[in-house]
Amino acid sequence: MNQNQWKARKVVIVGAGAVGATFAYALAQSGVADEIALIDFNQDLVKGQVLDLAHGLPFFPPLHIHVGSSADYRDASVIVITAGAKQQPGETRLDLLKRNAGIMKNIAREIAVQESEAVVIVTSNPVDILTYTVLQELGWKAGRVIGSGTVLDSARFRYLLGQHCGVDVHNVHAYILGEHGDSEFAAWSMTHLAGNEIDRYCAICRKCNNWQAVREEIVNEVKKSAYHIIDYKGSTYFAIGLALVRIVTAILRNQRSVLTVSTFLEGQYGVRDVCLSIPCIVAQSGVEKIVEGNLREEEMQALSRSASVLRNTLDAMSK
Ligand code: LAC
Repeated sequence: MNQNQWKARKVVIVGAGAVGATFAYALAQSGVADEIALIDFNQDLVKGQVLDLAHGLPFFPPLHIHVGSSADYRDASVIVITAGAKQQPGETRLDLLKRNAGIMKNIAREIAVQESEAVVIVTSNPVDILTYTVLQELGWKAGRVIGSGTVLDSARFRYLLGQHCGVDVHNVHAYILGEHGDSEFAAWSMTHLAGNEIDRYCAICRKCNNWQAVREEIVNEVKKSAYHIIDYKGSTYFAIGLALVRIVTAILRNQRSVLTVSTFLEGQYGVRDVCLSIPCIVAQSGVEKIVEGNLREEEMQALSRSASVLRNTLDAMSK
């Protein structure tokens, strides 16, 4: 293969704060990227983060890591946006909208100027609304602008289920769908443990006296997870950083992985004109296909409620 055909798997990370830097560190460890460019308006911060990571290069798989600029959008494979204000104790993710929408639009305009062919992943909150905002600003095909969505929430759900049921988390398949936020819900009809649909697993396991109460407790714990961590240590960054590595790996390795990223719906599951999380096939061009599963009636209602929360927020934003 001649040199000009070879394309580095280049990831540009916008925002060198806790999430961006932790993601950069985890991505460097993964060996999936050939090049990482870190961008932040705070030049001291981004120089410090890059220098600290560069000193680890002898311990990482081969990698080029550097301070980036908007010019790096041009030949990026993936652009991950982590910039923006973070939730303070007592704030919801939707409370961040006013502060972060303008930041997203500015970043999207810079990406457009560079005629980037990257897949864009939005992480900043409220991630579903901001994913929609960036997609509208860029005017790209829906699947190329996605949000981290409930990939992290689904991981939390899998962890709590595995802990409760005494099953390795890698043998728990479970999805949180809808808004990455207070209206998210568990798709119990899509939940499987050790190859058994969850209700069948429970019938065999018989550990819980009141499975409905346990079910509600687990989902409430998922929904409160971020609030707990923010109260304890100010912000979340390890698990979201790893969730981003999982999404970026599916793209850079063209894995066709099923992930609950936030994507623009055009009638799937009866939802349109809003971004939220449902199971998607993620590969080199971003979301290649939305997996239309058979949700139960109460799950379709929960998805519709989540879509309404997001739609109403978008409508209020445009006023
Ligand atoms: C959380 C942030 C990423 O859920 O929204 O931890």
